[in-house]
Amino acid sequence: MRIYDIISKKRDGIELLDEEISFFIKGYVNGEIKDYQAAALLMAIYLNGMNDREMTTLTLEMAHSGDMLDLSAIEGVTVDKHSTGGVGDKTTLIVAPIVASLGCKVAKMSGRGLGHTGGTVDKLESIDGFNVAPTPEKFIETVQKTGICVVGQTGDLAPADKKLYALRDATATVGSIPLIASSIMSKKLAAGSQCIVLDVKYGSGAFMKTAEDAEQLSQKMVEIGKGAGRNVAALISDMDTPLGKNIGNTLEVIEAVEILRNGTDSDLTEVSVELASNIIMLAQGISYTDAKNKVLAALKDGSAYKKFLEMVSAQGGNTELIENTDKFKKSAFSHKITAPRDGYISFMDAEKIGSTGVILGAGRVNKEDTVDYTAGIILHKKTGDRVNKDDIIAEIFTNDKEKIKSAEELFMSAVCFSNTMPEKKPLIYKVVS
Ligand code: URA
Repeated sequence: MRIYDIISKKRDGIELLDEEISFFIKGYVNGEIKDYQAAALLMAIYLNGMNDREMTTLTLEMAHSGDMLDLSAIEGVTVDKHSTGGVGDKTTLIVAPIVASLGCKVAKMSGRGLGHTGGTVDKLESIDGFNVAPTPEKFIETVQKTGICVVGQTGDLAPADKKLYALRDATATVGSIPLIASSIMSKKLAAGSQCIVLDVKYGSGAFMKTAEDAEQLSQKMVEIGKGAGRNVAALISDMDTPLGKNIGNTLEVIEAVEILRNGTDSDLTEVSVELASNIIMLAQGISYTDAKNKVLAALKDGSAYKKFLEMVSAQGGNTELIENTDKFKKSAFSHKITAPRDGYISFMDAEKIGSTGVILGAGRVNKEDTVDYTAGIILHKKTGDRVNKDDIIAEIFTNDKEKIKSAEELFMSAVCFSNTMPEKKPLIYKVVS
């Protein structure tokens, strides 16, 4: 078998055999297939697509290219959630303790932020002492004991995806549904959980710009997961506007704690409750209504908040910060951004607002960059809100005073105003299961 023939087949729109896909992944991981050959095949896939069989084979080959986590020692149903990435998306911090407090076992691996999107691992590390890298034995033991442990990627999970993703990033081949679906699902399958709920975002701050593309991606990922014997559902949710009001690591932990403690009504609460309800429904085989009632009760009676405290404590974090969030370190500088006119906020470009956070120090441009946990943005107004001239729309926080001006300029370029109230878009477009 030659990689040259596999590339030319896909270039000509001919479907690949399972053995050819397997040859490609194995050869690319062991270095026999070169970057330039892999890049050519990726571009051919980008242009000509893949059918469901090819996509499932690609996913399984990538999942099996490294460690497959064995969670069988954990008693009970293991669950996982995954977001395709957004701005202000701190749902894992809320959903994971809710479902753990209801008896699910959350053995979760999360990522760091890159570009305009944040990552759960950075948010958790903003809690002093929180260890996101326990040994694999400690990881399993913590899940067994407390029902929850959220860590960064351990072991050698889906190395084929790691290598291919870096290549896609450099060759304009990220935005392909079969490549995204297989990339995400290879890691989820390797991470071992039985039930997986995906939060597929669409809109200005998301990979998928339209609900239709997000639905197509969701269907593919659900099919792949089911084909691999897992219980999978996908929620399609809006990411035109940042989720919640806080953006930036410490600020996002504070907002999540507020919701866990007080169940405050917000867009963030709605998406979190929906995700948690779908996880409980899959894991416990009960109706959506019963699952949602359980989730709301766990928020109301404080058991989800208690589970969050237990998780922080078990992973070495300082629980005093959670019990009194005023104790979190703060940025040296803050600045209020005000409305330039009367009217309604008709649009807030989530990607630009995420990038404003990066300028302030809350995120990374390159993987190696360090993050300032205290930096970020509090949104006082969001899309649909009425404002009068000089009302505060947002407050920005940073330790680098020089960054305030450019951050304010980028933020303001993200916000549009209108004289009439904009039409309200549904926060949750659909659930695919
Ligand atoms: N996230 C991933 O893990 N992979 C993709 O291809 C896109 C988003």
